[in-house]
Amino acid sequence: MAIFDHFDFLAPIYETFIPARGPDALVALAGLPVHGALLDAGGGTGRVAQFLRDKAGNVIVADLSRKMLAEASQKEGLRLVNSHTEGLPFSDGAFERIIMIDALHHVIDQRHTLTELWRVLAPGGRLVVEEPDLRTFGVKLLALAEKLALMRSHFLAPTQIAALLDFPDARVRIEASSFNAWVVADKAAGRL
Ligand SMILES: C[S@@+](CC[C@H](N)C(=O)[O-])C[C@H]1O[C@@H](n2cnc3c(N)ncnc32)[C@H](O)[C@@H]1O
Repeated sequence: MAIFDHFDFLAPIYETFIPARGPDALVALAGLPVHGALLDAGGGTGRVAQFLRDKAGNVIVADLSRKMLAEASQKEGLRLVNSHTEGLPFSDGAFERIIMIDALHHVIDQRHTLTELWRVLAPGGRLVVEEPDLRTFGVKLLALAEKLALMRSHFLAPTQIAALLDFPDARVRIEASSFNAWVVADKAAGRL
């Protein structure tokens, strides 16, 4: 049975409502530029990745929605992969940087997703998860609105995301603005 995918439906108008934005804060948080590959997990239309093309050796957008990726295909210089984040078609340690922007609350299995992102992150690499900060009133309203729209969203507070990144080789910190929070996880460079 086909499951209705909100993002397939929203894809053509997505960036009208969620416009592209300058990447300066993200570039600093992700420690860019790097020589290696960058994965934008749940990267959708490439709204964010398009600004990072000259900041990494390769920029790959992985997303479940073919329609979101079709929008991304109109932006040059991105490699697109149709995959769910719970099982990525990449080898261990393939990426020097991984970002996941506004997507973790949409995936079905958050623990599995973060474990998979950690697997494909290279030793010495960095993962940045950006999410609306559930500790703020505005995001509590957003979470309610997405529930009413039957979006299957499941928001986690930044501390809950950090707890899921409790890997022995992870060093995790949290940054926050008035709306978003970033969980930044560095993977140890060598054997522990
Ligand atoms: C709110 S959009 C964010 C897109 C992009 N990161 C941005 O900031 O513009 C969430 C994205 O997550 C994708 N998504 C949801 N569940 C997913 C999963 N399990 N695996 C991969 N992508 C998923 C959706 O298709 C959608 O493109």
